[in-house]
Amino acid sequence: EKDGYDWFMRKEIFEQPRAVTDALLGRHTESGRLQLDEVRMSEEELRDVDRIVIIGCGTANYAGLVAKYAVEHWTRIPCEVELAHEFRYRDPILTRNTLVVAISQSGETADTLMAIRHARAQNAKVLAICNTNGSTIPRESDAVIYTHAGPEIGVASTKGFMTQMVACYLLGLYLAQVRGTMYGDEIGAVVAELGRIPGHVQGELDKSPEVYELAAALAERPAVLFLGRHAGFPIALEGALKLKELAYIHAEGFAAGELKHGPIALVEQGLPIFCIVPPRGRDQLHDKMVSAIQEVRARGARTIVLAEEGDTEVLPSSAVRWRRCSATTWTSRATWPSPSRSSERRGRRVIVGVGIDVVGVDRFAETLE
Ligand code: BG6
Repeated sequence: EKDGYDWFMRKEIFEQPRAVTDALLGRHTESGRLQLDEVRMSEEELRDVDRIVIIGCGTANYAGLVAKYAVEHWTRIPCEVELAHEFRYRDPILTRNTLVVAISQSGETADTLMAIRHARAQNAKVLAICNTNGSTIPRESDAVIYTHAGPEIGVASTKGFMTQMVACYLLGLYLAQVRGTMYGDEIGAVVAELGRIPGHVQGELDKSPEVYELAAALAERPAVLFLGRHAGFPIALEGALKLKELAYIHAEGFAAGELKHGPIALVEQGLPIFCIVPPRGRDQLHDKMVSAIQEVRARGARTIVLAEEGDTEVLPSSAVRWRRCSATTWTSRATWPSPSRSSERRGRRVIVGVGIDVVGVDRFAETLE
């Protein structure tokens, strides 16, 4: 049932706060220990893991790419991410201490299923991150973390993606707990931060009229780029995928550091570019993104910046006013020519928030020391 929504996908986008709440339900005990009951692997087996290979297709692959940064940082286990359809046709080096993490919303994607069979045939352990209870991929895996997002009918994954990132983070924290690479209070702090995601996402969903306004402005554009760094890079890839798959707009995602190695040639007057900016401080990523933004603006690009609340450094000019948004969410703000000519003359602003795509970046940056 669509519950009054015109499309399943719209319904599922609006279900994200609840989906994340459910994905986190019952994971953290009062004693402060993280528990993943469905992970049927012993702590000893998990301690022996010396390499993680995350596999999936499409959006699931991007969820894995986002997670890699945090998982390696927290666990100190080398983690690689590969498309399942590439993995299944090559001869990967796997041992009994390799943990293959297969991400699939449906649990039925043929390439991912074949890839886990390929991995298990070489004695690797397979853990599925899946949304569909009893589907084939978790049934054929050694362990499973269910994402509990509820049925996802829309073909392009939305709440599925969101909860896949959360599940990957839970897995990373659980491995860190088992292996002692993080203290209990550090894990608790991250879990508490994950628990704030539903509120942040709701805050972004409440701004959807502004997102629709931006979408209307984008609809006639022949191409759109997405730029990010670090965990913002796979978010850029996912953003581009969504635009291709749903709006049939030619879209590409790039690592901002690659700009000068070729993609800058594509930047011309009026090209819309989504820029995913991590929070300020703690590392150089923020400033690097700001200089990438300045570079593309200098070539006439129209930037839609997804940045932390109050981050004035991403603004194109001091003349742009800021609208009050909730204090902790990431929001994107854009100076955008409106489709109507009179407002175009006024250089009308559109302020946009897309919670799903920014949480992963935000969360990880906070864990950096
Ligand atoms: C694609 C969908 O066909 O399959 C994506 O368009 C999805 O949204 C991908 O991420 C993989 O599906 P699954 O069910 O294995 O996560």
